[in-house]
Amino acid sequence: HEEATKVKNINRVVMGQWQMETWYFSPFGKEYDGTDVLFVSEFDLNYFARREQLERYLQTKCKVFHPPGDEVYRETKEIRGELHRISIFEVDPKEQRIYCENLCLLAKLFLDHKTLYYDVEPFLFYIICEVDDAGAHMVGYFSKEKVPSMAEGGGEYNLACILTLPCYQRKGYGKLMIAFSYELSRREGKLGTPERPISDLGLVSYRSYWVYALLEILAKHRGSVSITELSEMTKFRTVDVVNTLQAFNLIRYFGGQHSIYVSPKTLETYFTKAKANWVIDQSKVPSWWKPYA
Ligand code: COA
Ligand code: NA
Repeated sequence: HEEATKVKNINRVVMGQWQMETWYFSPFGKEYDGTDVLFVSEFDLNYFARREQLERYLQTKCKVFHPPGDEVYRETKEIRGELHRISIFEVDPKEQRIYCENLCLLAKLFLDHKTLYYDVEPFLFYIICEVDDAGAHMVGYFSKEKVPSMAEGGGEYNLACILTLPCYQRKGYGKLMIAFSYELSRREGKLGTPERPISDLGLVSYRSYWVYALLEILAKHRGSVSITELSEMTKFRTVDVVNTLQAFNLIRYFGGQHSIYVSPKTLETYFTKAKANWVIDQSKVPSWWKPYA
């Protein structure tokens, strides 16, 4: 874990219209150590130590305006009162190795743990973008194993790593990516869960996503519903359903048995602040999309 704990080597990243303070060390290579600002070409993720190099590159070489890959989702969402065009691109490192390596290097600036930067091959990368007339601007991404491993405690890992770039955090994009990862699990007909260990911010986001998604179902559901049924409807593995219900005190012991109980007050508390901008519209994932394996 030597690399993960190394001292921060790059202080800031300039990307598109944004300048971001970095959080952690990332192995960009010796020649970038002690670089105050790293200049990143926002659509293809090539990076430079000097602004003039980036500008020259953008003027002469870079001819793309979106991540290299298949667009697997597109819609318009209201985020904090404004309409945003959202697209998700699926990138396979077999075709776009450099892009995926650059993505992992960039992501490591905001990730605490050790990741395999050079071994991108086993993963697919899902890049979420805000789209405007200038192009599809990366907001964040998640990775997923092409051939998902079985998770300890049931289900399969459906997400390896997730990042929302700091300038786009806390707007619901994390939950939107999580929702998309479960939609892919639904297409695969499998129960999914994120790879462990998971960061504190990752866990907060998952807890929040899990409870909203369960409450949304429970709010609409008539009659009793079992843990297994909730798991089938959401594609959350049963342990994650039970843990979430317990954490939010939604399992009660009545008349000799455990039941799921949601008070009207609980629903009100959660849904007054939830705008449901994290919901993935199943019909907008193209029918040609097929699981990799
Ligand atoms: N402090 C407290 N709560 C936070 C938070 C913070 N800094 N950041 C997010 N949350 C909460 C939000 O309030 C929201 O809950 P709510 O809807 O109940 O209010 C929930 O977490 C999800 O927020 P959302 O806006 O959808 O997430 P995000 O786009 O900010 O992305 C991460 C979440 C985890 C992807 C992002 O924090 C990140 O990239 N972190 C660095 C990388 C990382 O740790 N990844 C996970 C390990 S691989
Ligand atoms: Na990873």
